[in-house]
Amino acid sequence: ESLRAYAVPKLKEKQAFSNQLQPQASFKVAVLGAAGGIGQPLGLLIKMSPLVSELHLYDIANVKGVAADLSHCNTPSQVIDFTGPSELANCLKGVDVVVIPAGVPRKPGMTRDDLFNINAGIVKSLMEVVADNCPDAFIHIISNPVNSSVPIAAEVLKQKGVYDPKKLFGVTTLDVVRANTFVAQKKQLQLIDVDVPVIGGHAGITILPLLSKTMPSVTFTDEEIENLTVRIQNAGTEVVEAKAGAGSATLSMAYAAARFVESSLRALDGDGDVYECSFVQSELTDLPFFASRVKLGKKGIEAFVSADLDGLTEYEAKALEALKPELKASIEKGVAFVHRMA
Ligand code: NAD
Ligand code: LMR
Repeated sequence: ESLRAYAVPKLKEKQAFSNQLQPQASFKVAVLGAAGGIGQPLGLLIKMSPLVSELHLYDIANVKGVAADLSHCNTPSQVIDFTGPSELANCLKGVDVVVIPAGVPRKPGMTRDDLFNINAGIVKSLMEVVADNCPDAFIHIISNPVNSSVPIAAEVLKQKGVYDPKKLFGVTTLDVVRANTFVAQKKQLQLIDVDVPVIGGHAGITILPLLSKTMPSVTFTDEEIENLTVRIQNAGTEVVEAKAGAGSATLSMAYAAARFVESSLRALDGDGDVYECSFVQSELTDLPFFASRVKLGKKGIEAFVSADLDGLTEYEAKALEALKPELKASIEKGVAFVHRMA
């Protein structure tokens, strides 16, 4: 049931949109990069959560208007804006969850790694302030390339002596959202029932949907497996090309990130049945970071769903081996960046 919690909100739809909405918990969430393409709709979705009491919006510009706009929604949370580095520490003090979609998006013809030169520095500088002000928060990294930006975040936290690997997450929820959508369409299943674990990383062939582990159990032809896998791996590029220079996925990403925030808040609130895929420090493979399903609890990751890696099909086992060199190189690039700057 927990795996479809976002698709089946615990609140009835009517209640969620009414002015009767009552707070159910009082968590504080910060979004860094809140005036951007992802940040704005993500702010809206988080503003709708009954689990949130304060929504802190940070950006280097244009965040005042976003906050003023969102603050008129008659949902319980208070929206507070923070602009520029001098206000970042105050934005972060006391927050339970920090979401980071700050950074530049791809244009057609670019890989996610082409964003490294700009985004690595952005993530590093934001993480230094996160480490100093809310080291106990759950940290959700959206900024690309996720395969490098999460190791960058980890190294900064380590340098500051506050790294808790159970609370640092690379957001790969969009890969799961896409896999669920495409499989449901292909197999004419009820969307609400479909759950596909996606492991590995978040770029090209490092994105590995485990179609053999689809719930409910489905059979695919070899051709369907190949086509679905490639479509899920290239779905980000599909959006980048359709937007033709105007950026990458923002709305589906905001939806996916809001699901991950809501899952984190439910875990923090004591729900004992919360599972999500995420790119995290991991011992499931020989790579130091790896995306898999994890069980979330009050203290972050409570368990890894290692069973997902048992009994892989030949196709999946080969794809897993094939993704490892690229993922390893991206992780090492992130680590080396922080050490170079030290
Ligand atoms: P965008 O350009 O629309 O917005 C980015 C925002 O970040 C802007 O408002 C900008 O002012 C802000 N920003 C830049 N530097 C900053 C800093 N130092 N501190 C705070 N804010 C800063 O881009 P977007 O479409 O929102 O995408 C943001 C990032 O998310 C990109 O790197 C993109 O590749 C990534 N992304 C990841 C996923 C995923 O699945 N993990 C999905 C989609 C996009
Ligand atoms: C995505 O998967 O949509 C994001 O990582 C953005 C991108 O550059 O594809």
